[in-house]
Amino acid sequence: MADSVDRPEGSIRLNGVMKTYPGTSQPALHPLDLSIRGGEFFSLLGPSGSGKTTLLRLIGGFEYPNAGTVSVGGRNVTDLPPNKRPLHTVFQNYALFPHLTIEKNVAYPLRMAGVGRAETATRVGEALEYVELGAFARRKPDQLSGGQRQRVALARALVSRPPVVLLDEPLGALDLRLRQEMQIVLKQIQRDFGTTFVYVTHDQGEALGMSDRIAVLAQGEVHQIGSPHDIYLRPETPFVAQFVGKSNLITVADSGGGERSISIRPESIRLAADAAACDQRFEGRVIESLFQGAYAEVEVETRQGQQLFVHAPASSTPQAGDGVTIGWMRSDEIVLNGVG
Ligand SMILES: Nc1ncnc2c1ncn2[C@@H]1O[C@H](COP(=O)(O)OP(=O)(O)O)[C@@H](O)[C@H]1O
Ligand SMILES: [Mg+2]
Repeated sequence: MADSVDRPEGSIRLNGVMKTYPGTSQPALHPLDLSIRGGEFFSLLGPSGSGKTTLLRLIGGFEYPNAGTVSVGGRNVTDLPPNKRPLHTVFQNYALFPHLTIEKNVAYPLRMAGVGRAETATRVGEALEYVELGAFARRKPDQLSGGQRQRVALARALVSRPPVVLLDEPLGALDLRLRQEMQIVLKQIQRDFGTTFVYVTHDQGEALGMSDRIAVLAQGEVHQIGSPHDIYLRPETPFVAQFVGKSNLITVADSGGGERSISIRPESIRLAADAAACDQRFEGRVIESLFQGAYAEVEVETRQGQQLFVHAPASSTPQAGDGVTIGWMRSDEIVLNGVG
């Protein structure tokens, strides 16, 4: 957060925005207030169908809300079409023009804005150098790899220096190694340009790694907004605890006589002799033990019938059928709102 400089022209504000698509009974997005700071890397994280794309398209102007207002840079843009908003959208399929060269693809937003030939050439050259595609200017999109096409789409998004760039699962089509490389590129670009990024993903690793803040969505509702640390270390609902990282949910009686869930992370649970110092201890039996490289994921069933995932050091992993003591510190329990 320290390096997220507040740039007012890139701030976004949603007030009471909601969306129900025609012919559907459930809102795709329940009424929502949201503030995104200028220069922030803000992710919308949730499973498929949770309303992420709908929210992004409402900001971009590709959908019109049933209620509420959208402001960008302090200006109400609710009634403006996408091309009149101070932003650029990068779609998952990159949406490059197949018949145009890379440089003409990147020049397109400048041509639309009526920027002159000489200045267009300079800025396109700079943008392509920046994404390390200077040597590919005369090629067509189908002569590039997936990762290179993605970088062309980024150059095109940045060439007109919009205060806000919207990205919908932009790395979804890339393999794991390239995805990780591109995460670093994206983060650098966002920081260098001071651009507000609103980044849609269903991948918690992407969201945790790149974001200043994350909004976690489920079924058209925002469950929690916070820094990656907050979301991971202090999930507020059973859904967030289970969707972000792996959690064990345990239902306990609360002081009012009702029930609530607590979450305990697999890495907070200790085994065998390591459990001796814990203030919560249970006897159990190992159901399954899966070697993961740096650690083993061990599933334990306690005598009370609770099944829990535990991370065990790879060097001393109990095997299926072994009896085992597990334990954790009460201070590592995360109390959630509601029962999961
Ligand atoms: N054009 C549409 N018409 C009708 N329903 C839609 C349309 N687009 C999305 N939906 C529905 O709205 C909900 C949210 O979808 P979406 O915003 O695409 O979620 P996500 O991007 O998180 O996968 C889903 O139930 C989806 O089926
Ligand atoms: Mg989507």
